[in-house]
Amino acid sequence: MKPSPKTFHVKSFGCQMNVYDGERMAELMLAEGMTATDDANAADLVVLNTCHIRERATEKVYSDIGRLRKGARQSGRSAPMVAVAGCVAQAEGEEIVRRAGVDVVVGPQAYHNLPALVAQAASGAPALDTDMPIASKFGALPARRRVAPSAFLTVQEGCDKFCTYCVVPYTRGAEVSRPFAAIVDEAKALVDAGAREITLLGQNVNAWGQDQGGLEALIVALDRLPGLERIRYTTSHPNDMTQGLIDAHAQVGKLMPFLHLPVQSGSDRVLKAMNRSHDRDSYLRLLDRVRAARPDIALSGDFIVGFPGETDAEFAETLSLVDAVGYAQAFSFKYSPRPGTPAATMPDQIAPEIMDERLQRLQAALNRDQAAFNAKTLGRTCDVLIERAGKLPGQMLGKSPWLQSVHLLTDAAIGDMVEVDIVRADPNSLSGLERRRAAA
Ligand code: SAH
Ligand code: SF4
Ligand code: F3S
Repeated sequence: MKPSPKTFHVKSFGCQMNVYDGERMAELMLAEGMTATDDANAADLVVLNTCHIRERATEKVYSDIGRLRKGARQSGRSAPMVAVAGCVAQAEGEEIVRRAGVDVVVGPQAYHNLPALVAQAASGAPALDTDMPIASKFGALPARRRVAPSAFLTVQEGCDKFCTYCVVPYTRGAEVSRPFAAIVDEAKALVDAGAREITLLGQNVNAWGQDQGGLEALIVALDRLPGLERIRYTTSHPNDMTQGLIDAHAQVGKLMPFLHLPVQSGSDRVLKAMNRSHDRDSYLRLLDRVRAARPDIALSGDFIVGFPGETDAEFAETLSLVDAVGYAQAFSFKYSPRPGTPAATMPDQIAPEIMDERLQRLQAALNRDQAAFNAKTLGRTCDVLIERAGKLPGQMLGKSPWLQSVHLLTDAAIGDMVEVDIVRADPNSLSGLERRRAAA
């Protein structure tokens, strides 16, 4: 027997969907009468909500567990109960119990059972649930309580695309869309709980609801929600970017001018080997249509350098695609072989120093374009949703419609929408002067 935990701490790694899941797990614990603590070293229960997308994810989890136990030993406390959740839990399952002796292992589709698993662990038996049940977990989760002005809402989970480098189809399961009505209800609850901006989330969010009118139908419905000011969505796949969704960028007032549309590579040979199902040209033509609908849209992407067999010439095609697009921001990664994925056993794996050099060159190009995009915002007036206090006295931080961070001196509160003149553009953020406070 272990004492039932009274305090908990949730630590989320990886994508925004994990952040959302972490919030929902915290709500489950609160509904059980437990108290949240910001200090992992003071909690009776620590939930490590893990990510498996790139290298050393698993090792990081084991060293985190070791650190938590050492911290407890050093301060004379008994070791906390540890629950491993998220994508490493799904991928490693029982191995984590064997190797680290953790109390609870729970997969991304099973975390509504977390309270029962914690109770089982408190009775002395390690508890494991990595099922991917047909019935969705969402119905079993408690209502949303208090949320930040910018809130996440998962609408779609899983992936059927099977890009050859990626673990997500294995850790998150098949593509499933939540029902329209359940999402609208949760969006209303989020607004009641303080949200003014909602980001719809899915591993392939734009594949949402192909039999429910498509993502644009959901966006149109949310556009009518009083109190909601901004709608965003992420992450999209180029192949699911319908004309209807593109048109929504021209027509729906609350839909923000931002699109994260990962391309991964500029080389057709590499894209094919990745099983990406779009090519360089179809991607560029798609962006032309997006820009035709919404000329000021900020474009973002994901890139992988050093995919097996990538030649210098193929990498140069990625650089020239970046030049052609002009991204407002982007994420770029060195290819990381993931166990069980087809690319991990492909010939011609690229040497680490070549990947390092390519990543540096790619990031230099992306940083240049981000700085140029920010510079274009200089002198404009835009709305900023205040999200948190800045480092300086009186300074607040918020986001522009194009997802840039904006610093300003203001007495506006978190959650206020402020009209701002952009007076300074730096490579990673903007500074503004308050012009007018929008009515709350
Ligand atoms: N569903 C989204 C993104 C999922 S993962 C999409 O299809 O775009 C987020 C990003 O991580 C991917 O876009 C890719 O750039 C990167 N990524 C995924 N697997 C990777 C791997 N094995 N090595 C390096 N980067 C990877
Ligand atoms: Fe991974 Fe590809 Fe699915 Fe994105 S679309 S989650 S990169 S398999
Ligand atoms: Fe990571 Fe799983 Fe998200 S592997 S990126 S937490 S879907």
